[in-house]
Amino acid sequence: MNMMVIHGPNLNLLGTRKPEIYGKKTLNEINSEILCYAKENNIKVEIFQSNSESEIIDLLHKSKEIFQSQGIVLNPAAYTHYSYAIADAVEAIEIPVVEVHLSNIHGREEFRRKSVIAPFAMGQVSGFGGHGYILAMDALLNKKRRG
Ligand code: DQA
Repeated sequence: MNMMVIHGPNLNLLGTRKPEIYGKKTLNEINSEILCYAKENNIKVEIFQSNSESEIIDLLHKSKEIFQSQGIVLNPAAYTHYSYAIADAVEAIEIPVVEVHLSNIHGREEFRRKSVIAPFAMGQVSGFGGHGYILAMDALLNKKRRG
């Protein structure tokens, strides 16, 4: 199975950015865990990080054609809460998208409790730190196996 993982804005700062909320792991460490899980489960995974809304939209559009993605794991970061453009892209593509958040967005500030992406996602994983990416990949794998 082919998957794409997209980390949104500011996630390149993981490790030093608010470790009490986002944990101490760096993005590289989280990505190593993603690659390890992918190897064990025969998943081909392509990982991207972008601070730009338009780049994230382009990746979503191209995911199927350039990488033959069958599932996408997306942490839209702050775009979660207001990017109707990313929400429209998630709705427009045919590939299942799982939304991931390291922190539990439902227990945080009011503005973080709403996701404009979630209505178009296959599901949302929130509050399990970097392990959330693994849970999301497992959900996509399971969906594919069930057909
Ligand atoms: C986040 C939660 C967002 O509210 C925040 O803007 C982020 C990270 C998370 O992974 O917990 O940048 O998506």
